[in-house]
Amino acid sequence: MEQITLPTTSDRTELYSALAPQIRGLLSEERDLVAAMANMSAALHTTFGWHWVGFYRVLGAELVLGPFQGPVACSRIGHGKGVCGTAWAEEKVLVVANVEEFPGHIACSALSKSEIVVPIRDSNGRIAAVLDIDSIELNDFSEVDAIALDRLCAQLEPLFE
Ligand code: SME
Repeated sequence: MEQITLPTTSDRTELYSALAPQIRGLLSEERDLVAAMANMSAALHTTFGWHWVGFYRVLGAELVLGPFQGPVACSRIGHGKGVCGTAWAEEKVLVVANVEEFPGHIACSALSKSEIVVPIRDSNGRIAAVLDIDSIELNDFSEVDAIALDRLCAQLEPLFE
């Protein structure tokens, strides 16, 4: 069976450093939110090889599935529900080392073992979307990912209407 080598923490720091200007470049050429989210999810997915990378937008009282890379996912998540809805309600990045230990975790794929969710604010400071990433590895996300992904997502802020 093919051996998959996951990036180490230091690799990740380097990969994020390389990715930041690429994302800036993508966003400087494209001001449409959906196009920007689509390319950002693709860039993260191909760079890190995660199982699922995508966005949910806040539409009324729910999160609604946006651009993503990976298997089919649930399309709507309520406020305070699952990891995504909890990150939205608590307005903070959630790093879940083992999704089976997160009460109310919504399992879109049986392969997902750990997860990170990053809330994204609009220019008024309101949560307008979340970035959700699932890994097939336990404990795959750390503070390094939380900080780097938060910075990348902040680049989307001006694109929300
Ligand atoms: N696991 C998420 C649901 C979305 S999927 O992982 C793509 C949650 O608990 O909110």
